[in-house]
Amino acid sequence: MSERVEIRLIVNGEPVAKSVPARQNLVDFLREELGLTGTRAGCEHGVCGACTLRIDGAIARGCLVFAAQLDGSTVETVEGLSDSGEIADLQAQFLARNALQCGFCTAGMLVASAELLRRAEVPSRAEIREFLAGNYCRCTG
Ligand code: FES
Ligand code: FES
Repeated sequence: MSERVEIRLIVNGEPVAKSVPARQNLVDFLREELGLTGTRAGCEHGVCGACTLRIDGAIARGCLVFAAQLDGSTVETVEGLSDSGEIADLQAQFLARNALQCGFCTAGMLVASAELLRRAEVPSRAEIREFLAGNYCRCTG
C-alpha cells in the first residue's frame, strides 16, 4: 500500500483538506479528487504544457509536482481563472478566432496566455510565439 500524506491547501479560493498518495501528481489530484478536469495531463514529463496552472501565483507544470508537496499552497486552475473572469477576454478571443480544435491543450494555452498578459500588456507577435512555444497543440501543430 502506498504511503499517504495529509495536505491542506487552497484551490481556486476554496480550502481543501485531503489525504493523498505520496506520489500522486497535482493534475491527477485535481482531476480525480476534486473533479477539476480542465487541467489535462498530456506528456506528464513537463514538455507539452497541457497541465499549466498556477501555484502560489506562479505559472507551473502540474504534472511535475506531487500534490503531497503542496501543503499550505494556493493553486489556481483554468476553472478558477474562468470563474473569476480573469481570462474572459482570452476565452472570447480563442473562440472568435478558432484557436482550438479538440480543446485538449486549451486550458494550458489559456493559463499561459494569461501569464504573458500579466508580464506584457501588449506583447508582440514574436513574444507571443516565444512564450507559447512551451505549449504544444497536437491538432494544429
Ligand atoms: S502534461 Fe505536464 S507538461 Fe505535458
Ligand atoms: S486543440 Fe487539440 S491539442 Fe490543441
